[in-house]
Amino acid sequence: MTAEIINGSEISKQIREELKQEVAQLKERHNIIPGLATVIVGEDPASQSYVSSKVKTCQELGIYSERYDLSAETSEQELLALIDRLNKDPKINGILVQLPLPKHIDENNVIMAIDPKKDVDGFHPINVGKLMIGEPDYLPCTPHGIQVLLQRAGVETEGADVVVVGRSNIVGKPIANILMQKKSGANATVTVCHTRTKDLASHTKRADILIVAAGGKPKSITADMVKEGVVVIDVGVHRIGKTAEGKNILCGDVDFESVKEKARAITPVPRGVGPMTIVMLMSNTVKAAKLAAGLA
Ligand SMILES: NC(=O)c1ccc[n+]([C@@H]2O[C@H](COP(=O)([O-])OP(=O)(O)OC[C@H]3O[C@@H](n4cnc5c(N)ncnc54)[C@H](OP(=O)(O)O)[C@@H]3O)[C@@H](O)[C@H]2O)c1
Repeated sequence: MTAEIINGSEISKQIREELKQEVAQLKERHNIIPGLATVIVGEDPASQSYVSSKVKTCQELGIYSERYDLSAETSEQELLALIDRLNKDPKINGILVQLPLPKHIDENNVIMAIDPKKDVDGFHPINVGKLMIGEPDYLPCTPHGIQVLLQRAGVETEGADVVVVGRSNIVGKPIANILMQKKSGANATVTVCHTRTKDLASHTKRADILIVAAGGKPKSITADMVKEGVVVIDVGVHRIGKTAEGKNILCGDVDFESVKEKARAITPVPRGVGPMTIVMLMSNTVKAAKLAAGLA
């Protein structure tokens, strides 16, 4: 069996088109323009590139955006003061503080300072709690992107054995939570694995749907660790070299070439989960604008 490739670039393009229309309608019918503020502290090149893509996508969709580039020496107090100002600004519906932050700033304090109604990353404990009880306003972007990929690729989650490798607060825990909810697009039986899991392969081999968000070692999930007909979602991103043109060569946590011969469907890296994360952020920003206007 050679797997169907779940093309995150194509699916994210469709969602961009839908969002563009929704943003145009919000303006036409209600004179509402959703607004996103992005905040970056320091000069980490990967973070700069993520934020630039977010700003560019806002422009493409008609979402108002403000970008704050703060120096690496910015104090926690200064950052909290900016967040306070953005919390009160009616033009801004969503606030995204790019992580990681410099070591002298406590990420938790920053996440807690963002008004939960503007927390379009879905990291504030109020939003984490709402997700847990099945009443979310905002789902965190990467896990939400995974759920939408599964839905749009026609993968049934109901009753499926889902195995998640990784338990981070931004991917592993929330995707496990999303897929175990008593809801359509969920209703799965979920197992979460991590570095203390005994015999990882005994779990991954049982999976109908295997979601890998481990980081660590590239291509570490190999064909002998999955069953025939599995659906594989590879969240991992590793830079493993450069092309002659100087572009990064990327791969995932999964050994794509061997696993695709056993899987029913699989996401590639790049062009799998990655492109979904930004569109789900845009989707949350549009939702935040609608919630603020009493339209959702
Ligand atoms: N495409 C996207 O939009 C996107 C978004 C976010 C993340 N990512 C990528 O996804 C990967 C994971 O990100 P993250 O933020 O969730 O990482 P993280 O915070 O480092 O968490 C990694 C998790 O994987 C577990 N793990 C690591 N190696 C393992 C192994 N050999 N066996 C079993 N479990 C293992 C860790 O277990 P312990 O808890 O026991 O340490 C931890 O829970 C990274 O490659 C990241 O770049 C991509």
